[in-house]
Amino acid sequence: MAGSIAAARPLRAGFSLAARASSKENNLTDAVIKPLTEVELDERIREIAGKNKMLRSFIGMGYWNAVVPKVILRNITENPAWYTSYTPYQPEISQGRLESLLNYQTMVTDLTALDVANASLLDEATAAGEAMIMCLATMPAHSTKRTFLVDSGVFPQTIDVLHTRSIGFGVKVVVADVQEAINDPAIAGDLIGVLVQYPKQDGSIVYYSDLSNKVHELGAHMVCATDLLALTLIKAPGEWGADIALGSSARFGVPAGYGGPHAAFFSVKDALKRKMPGRLVGVSKDTMGNPALRLALQTREQHIKREKATSNICTSQVLLANMAAMYAVYHGPSGLKAIAQRVQQLTQALAAAISAKGYKITNDTYFDTLTVEVPSAADVLSKALEKGINIRRVDDTHVSITLDESVRLHDITALASSFEGATIPSSITTGESIPSALLRTSPYLSHPTFNAYHSETAMLRYIYYLQAKDLSLVHAMIPLGSCTMKLNPTSTMAPLTWPELGSLHPFVPEDQAKGYHEMIKELEDDLCAITGFKACSIQPNSGASGEYAGLMVIREYLKSQGQGHRDICLIPVSAHGTNPASAMMAGMKVLSVKVLANGNLDLADLRAKADKYKDNLAAFMITYPSTYGVFEDTVTEACKIIHEAGAQVYLDGANLNAQVGITNPATCGGDVCHLNLHKTFAIPHGGGGPGVGPICVAEHLAPFLPGHSQVKTGGSQAMSAVSAAPFGSASILSISWAYIKMLGGSGLKEATSMALLNANYIAKRLEPFYHVKFVNGAGRVAHEVLIELAEFDKKAGLKVSDFAKRLQDYGFHPPTCSWPISTCMLIEPTESEDLQELDKFCDAMIQIRKEVNDIIAGKQPKDNNLLKNAPHPISVISLSEEEWNRPYSRTTAAYPLPYLKIRKFWPTVTRIDDAYGDLNLMCTCPSVEEMEAKF
Ligand SMILES: Cc1ncc(COP(=O)(O)O)c(C=O)c1O
Repeated sequence: MAGSIAAARPLRAGFSLAARASSKENNLTDAVIKPLTEVELDERIREIAGKNKMLRSFIGMGYWNAVVPKVILRNITENPAWYTSYTPYQPEISQGRLESLLNYQTMVTDLTALDVANASLLDEATAAGEAMIMCLATMPAHSTKRTFLVDSGVFPQTIDVLHTRSIGFGVKVVVADVQEAINDPAIAGDLIGVLVQYPKQDGSIVYYSDLSNKVHELGAHMVCATDLLALTLIKAPGEWGADIALGSSARFGVPAGYGGPHAAFFSVKDALKRKMPGRLVGVSKDTMGNPALRLALQTREQHIKREKATSNICTSQVLLANMAAMYAVYHGPSGLKAIAQRVQQLTQALAAAISAKGYKITNDTYFDTLTVEVPSAADVLSKALEKGINIRRVDDTHVSITLDESVRLHDITALASSFEGATIPSSITTGESIPSALLRTSPYLSHPTFNAYHSETAMLRYIYYLQAKDLSLVHAMIPLGSCTMKLNPTSTMAPLTWPELGSLHPFVPEDQAKGYHEMIKELEDDLCAITGFKACSIQPNSGASGEYAGLMVIREYLKSQGQGHRDICLIPVSAHGTNPASAMMAGMKVLSVKVLANGNLDLADLRAKADKYKDNLAAFMITYPSTYGVFEDTVTEACKIIHEAGAQVYLDGANLNAQVGITNPATCGGDVCHLNLHKTFAIPHGGGGPGVGPICVAEHLAPFLPGHSQVKTGGSQAMSAVSAAPFGSASILSISWAYIKMLGGSGLKEATSMALLNANYIAKRLEPFYHVKFVNGAGRVAHEVLIELAEFDKKAGLKVSDFAKRLQDYGFHPPTCSWPISTCMLIEPTESEDLQELDKFCDAMIQIRKEVNDIIAGKQPKDNNLLKNAPHPISVISLSEEEWNRPYSRTTAAYPLPYLKIRKFWPTVTRIDDAYGDLNLMCTCPSVEEMEAKF
């Protein structure tokens, strides 16, 4: 698994790791994590998966059995060209997934009838949390209002997460029948927003038009959690006054996966778009004037907002959003409607059968969900279970059933027979289960993209047409500092799409998920062994979500110690933007700590601030090795200072790839850390998600790990949930579990050594050409290399982005640009790249440096040269002689090094005009008229 360089070169002396674990502390040996061969791994995962019971589940609550079209399953979900790509920050080599995400946004805006949708959030419950805070953030500046009214028809797991999210912002969540509660003057006078579920959790469909008017009269926002499939038949939220719509797009072809990952959708009215969290794809144009896509309004990203943030969302659910978008492209508007109508009709048939036996169905309006009053819910549940079916127990005398696309006649026959042998009538006269005022009449998905690819041949070609535009790990190394784009081994990925892992509803009885529980326990134990901590929660479904969870755990702990007043969080200026954003969300005040000119933490500043604020200091957040790519030898001292001030240390584990097996966050002195399983532990980035951000904690924090309203998780004094599902994005945990098991204790350590060695190899090769900004006392970097490019701006007017775009011509995805320092590039090779690939990358960087020399020497003009004009797609290389007005040849532009003649990846557009796109914001598939008007 480690690069081929691994066997050839042992780690040389000279790495001075400040917090190197002693041999006693560093217990990561093969005895602790026994390595498995690929064959053994296969046997073991089959054994584990076999312990999950694959019953049919019609529990609902925002989770369905999805039917994944095989053309999507095989060519997107299981295709490394889609799942290994990175977040599309380099749009010229990401046009494929950007187009697919634009389709996703178009699908969501059309179905919800709102103006702008983002390219996904983490899950429905956290999306509701984001909406609540948006309601607060969009109140007039002087407003002191704080009440968020939540209808009792909203899913309980959403309400649980809302409670958690409300704490940091001082929002008061009131759960009630909204139609009545809105008339309560205490609520009405303090209202920031109202959340309804549409259809409600009991299945009923309520018209919220009047309620919306009242909410607007009160100066608040109307938020609607909804279901995309239902919206093909019922009036869209935007048509009856909702300002924000959200929900899960999972039933568009994404398996339940014991809770996830799934893409949450989120759309808003135009007036709210600049406050919307998450990433937004927009249409702009390239330097040739051709339409081109890129992430819009990037300054909204939390990396930049830091202390002013109201959201910390970074990694989201891009791969799952792409699956859902492709599902809509494949079925088209009439296909989706036919699926919805079939679900509704089968629900009507079931309703007829159950009511014929004298049972009362408590919701007389419905799309796919029936709530039934029964003498004993336990009896009905056990009868359904005898037939291999799970339904929802609402309370002692009510059950509910939610049908979906997967349902077959024998399923509803079996379901009906659980109600004293009810039978499905051979013909039914169905009343209208959707009130006529709520029937959808407006069109949706009329754009050609949703009406052109309904045959498998056409769909397959569309998927491959988009895929060919994107550079992913199948093409080259993606040396993204702080993002650890390592190999996603096929053996670890393969089980992911097995039905034994994919088909489980997150709220099935525990004895049906024994395999999952075994795997989760083993993964938690391994992560504890790796971090040196005592307990773990795998609920957070991104790194930033882990940060938030960890800080909330600290908050709960301090409260339990009578120290609840402590609310200051110290964060180095070099920290990732999600750190201060998460601290803000946890209700903490953020104060910056300086760093020294050599990149190390300014210990004197830390000491002074810890002393000054010792009575109110809650936490210190630190990334180790630092975001500047060095192991600081003061880390243990820094943690000591914080502990002496009575506060807790949060260690951001994004850089754990430099620690595993060599040191660990506990040894460094931390109390809690998050790990990015989508970085260090081989879960692919998916083009911007999914991710998993588990937190590991020291013993004193373990009681406070997050719980869940439906399934027991967390510690003895568990805080409320941070994610919709009890075990977060459970299905992809199998990837990290398998990665750890295959490497074993010693293999993990060797992988870390290789990551360090590879980074130091690059540093040494580039040193004669570029200024390596920070090294430690021994002249070493950690697992990544920060190179300073400021001098080239002064000498040749070249920015970091010019180097990045030119690297695209060499077939590489550029390293992390302008972060953590605006004039730098952060290069992280990981252990997965072999010497040949490292050399190829270094050769490219060195050749670019030569091109820069020509500009500095005046051989090429500062405004018309290889870097400023980069990238050079075929549309440029094929310009006519007259049009080619450049002081260099086409060959130099496209084939600057010999390897490119053999293997060349072509960007598909020239450099994109960000300003144009932001000024003319367009976030849905453009119509022909729009294209004509704007391009
Ligand atoms: C240092 C650091 N911390 C936190 C995060 C946030 O992780 P996520 O994107 O999974 O939310 C990142 C992401 O790149 C990071 O680099």
